[in-house]
Amino acid sequence: MNPKSQDEAVFRTSQLEENGGPGHNPTANPTMGEIITARFSRRGLLKGSLAVTAIAASVSPVALILADEARAEGVSAFDFTEVEAGVDDQHHVAEGYDADVLLRWGDPIFADAPEFDPAAQSAAAQAMQLGYNSDYIGYIPIDGSASHGLLVINHEYTTPHLMFPGIVTIAEGKISQAPLSKEQVDIELAAHGAAVVEIRKEGGKWQVVRGSKLNRRITATTEMEVTGPAAGHDRMKTNADPAGTRVLGTLNNCAGGVTPWGTFVTAEENFHGYFSGELPAGHGEAAAYQRLGVPEGSYEWAKHYDRYDVGKEPNEPNRFGWIVEVDVMDPDSTPKKRTALGRFKHEGAESIVSRDGRVVFYLGDDERFDYVYKFVTAGTFNAADRAANMDLLDEGTLYVAKFADDGTFEWLPLVHGEGPLTAANGFASQADVAIGTRLAADLLGATKMDRPEDIQPNPVDGKVYVLLTNNTKREENQVDAANPRASNAFGHIIEIAEDGGDFAATRGRWEVLLKCGDPSVAEVGATFSTATTSNGWFGMPDNCAIDAAGRLWVATDGQGPKATGRTDGLWAVDTEGEARATSKLFFRVPVGAELCGPLFTPDDETVFVAVQHPADEGPDWEPFGRPSYYEDPSTRWPDFKDDMPVRPSVLAITRQGGGKIAS
Ligand code: FEO
Ligand code: CA
Ligand code: CA
Repeated sequence: MNPKSQDEAVFRTSQLEENGGPGHNPTANPTMGEIITARFSRRGLLKGSLAVTAIAASVSPVALILADEARAEGVSAFDFTEVEAGVDDQHHVAEGYDADVLLRWGDPIFADAPEFDPAAQSAAAQAMQLGYNSDYIGYIPIDGSASHGLLVINHEYTTPHLMFPGIVTIAEGKISQAPLSKEQVDIELAAHGAAVVEIRKEGGKWQVVRGSKLNRRITATTEMEVTGPAAGHDRMKTNADPAGTRVLGTLNNCAGGVTPWGTFVTAEENFHGYFSGELPAGHGEAAAYQRLGVPEGSYEWAKHYDRYDVGKEPNEPNRFGWIVEVDVMDPDSTPKKRTALGRFKHEGAESIVSRDGRVVFYLGDDERFDYVYKFVTAGTFNAADRAANMDLLDEGTLYVAKFADDGTFEWLPLVHGEGPLTAANGFASQADVAIGTRLAADLLGATKMDRPEDIQPNPVDGKVYVLLTNNTKREENQVDAANPRASNAFGHIIEIAEDGGDFAATRGRWEVLLKCGDPSVAEVGATFSTATTSNGWFGMPDNCAIDAAGRLWVATDGQGPKATGRTDGLWAVDTEGEARATSKLFFRVPVGAELCGPLFTPDDETVFVAVQHPADEGPDWEPFGRPSYYEDPSTRWPDFKDDMPVRPSVLAITRQGGGKIAS
């Protein structure tokens, strides 16, 4: 998120995503991003006393000539009527659609799981209920069905001030949050990870199959196996795991993917925040940890568990930051940390089978000035034998992208012994390349991007979309063709085409599909088509989906009353023909939330979305105008009951009367 949405000295928020690593600025001064965002906010311009002058100087002539309302009709490939952009405490979906709450934080997912009782939470109960802050959503059909399958859901992080009663106090205008108890920390651990939930559509409505044998919770304490080049390496060993092959838990699971063989891959993103303490003097990991922002110390876990204290267990952070694979068809299976796919702040892991049968995974590293990666398996996908694919992720080549200003790009292999990746430079084996992926990519001269989030291959037209959410720290002298705006507050989307339409190719061409932000404010430099209405533009692209027709849908993270005068949501974006770069608002979230998922069922009749961190914003939303916390949240979505806290939830959106979404 761009603006500081809460008193961040007190509350942990999704701001963590922006803070860690080399770009971290620990001061409370407004960042250049906030200043730029405020300056470029259309709402800000309209409010100021110089509004008339400012608008006359900044609205592009084209925007003035064309009337908003008439524009979208007849051009876009999407037939729905747009939602009006704005900010309030509800969700809104386009007219003629239902957005039904399917799973809320705390909903029991096993037959014997207790009902959610916010006043009497326990770690044991939380481990049997849906976790907090759902992010990625995947659908794995059962018997090929589009109306019966497994929903896989990531639970990215926890926000205690909205989860636990009685920990926030305001006295004499000062807000404070009490230290968490061990039980509350244990609830946080149990609220992390992922969920596997069987669902079935009956009478046009999705239902949870609560007693399914396939339902599963994975948490920050679930035992996992380390596989691939880093397994058993000295840098992976701890007191609890002297072999360096078993890890407890997965953390900060952001986006992910479903593999062609029907497993779930989940991406460990901002793992640095969970670690505290100080590395022993002269420790060999010092440079590597600095590159990752470890330890960041946002969580209180190290007070209760030594392994989150790098002074006591210096190698533990090396065991996070991976892609984890889960065989959802066996609820007793041990999830595997697949180290061949590298270690960084993994955003997602969407995959596609290449022409010769190798499988290609696109991977973003979400930090300012970090990189775009892909992994190509050495073996080929066997559609007739699921078991034959189960270790495909242990062997292959990890590449990092270098974008040239002439519209070409190259995938540079991260292979030990090739180029600078030698012992002399600190890479004694492929394990070192895997554990220190960012440092290896630095040496290869990869292109520093504006926070790569989801990267999505399109099986219909062979293109790949790279969502770059924002980078307010890029200076004028750091601008390049692939990251064309300094102080990039609103992000952009790059479209790439691999050579010959082959996803396993090592080069290709790229172009900017869209520079985001309000296109009516000339200084922003947004490039939405002129058919895009004042509701249709967006900033801060994060997650995305491709529907069965090959159309692009973009979800955002970081809008809000201060940055854009609109909440986050789901936008349908044309990529073809005259309508290219036209965008329409389909769904928007309640105040404080970002939109995650999104995920279309194979028949395009449902889109699942996750509303993450609702109510994580209060002071900047004028009608509320104060800190938002458990007892006094800016919204009590989705239950709106006085005795129920705000609850991050997964929704199923369907067309009233049935049929495909937006055909
Ligand atoms: Fe968890 Fe980069 O979003
Ligand atoms: Ca994300
Ligand atoms: Ca995000």
